Amino acid sequence: MSTQPTTKGACHADAGTTLPPHPVDTLMQEHEVILAVLEAMETQAKALAAGTAIDAPFWRDAIEFLRNFADACHHGKEEGCLFPAMVQRGVPDTGGPVGVMKLEHVEGRGFIADMAKAVDQSNAAALRRAAYDYITLLRAHIDKENHILFVIARNVLQGPDAGAVLAGYAEVERKVGDGEHCRWLGVAESLCAASGVDMARSRSTGAWLGGGCCGHHEH
Ligand SMILES: [Fe+2]
Ligand SMILES: [Fe+2]
Repeated sequence: MSTQPTTKGACHADAGTTLPPHPVDTLMQEHEVILAVLEAMETQAKALAAGTAIDAPFWRDAIEFLRNFADACHHGKEEGCLFPAMVQRGVPDTGGPVGVMKLEHVEGRGFIADMAKAVDQSNAAALRRAAYDYITLLRAHIDKENHILFVIARNVLQGPDAGAVLAGYAEVERKVGDGEHCRWLGVAESLCAASGVDMARSRSTGAWLGGGCCGHHEH
């Protein structure tokens, strides 16, 4: 006689509960992948501080991951889908959490550019500084989204609003390119493996689906 929805797939962080999928679930899964890569970058930045030479292939891959997965794909979903839907439901576009998040995205792009320039110039000190700036910014940013902004989003976006945001995510993925999301998950995995970072936490959220495709095709 239960009217509870069926248990959700393994791609959902709260699998086993009766809550329907929400657009912030996808973003929180992606946050775990990004956090794992930030940990890998921190390991490499510490090595630079100890005098190890720049591992240019690692940093070039990390920078491309940040530009594509973290910025174009993940921030693209936030700026192009989630935030506008929240604004439509009365959340201020500027002067509040949404405005702060957008400003931090811009700030992060500057640090990524600084990292790329430092790698090109083989400037280990500048690379370490820009990497720590980015890591510090994005960890705090993700924490604010997970614990403040996404709590607001869960309250104001429900039913058809949430469905429209999920449809928008699919459009972002199409624009980024078929298979690109999965390819960048593979790059994240390689970056973590190269740095000895344990990916258990991000795997436990369903962000990686058994080496197959990614968590954005949620059903
Ligand atoms: Fe963000
Ligand atoms: Fe985010």
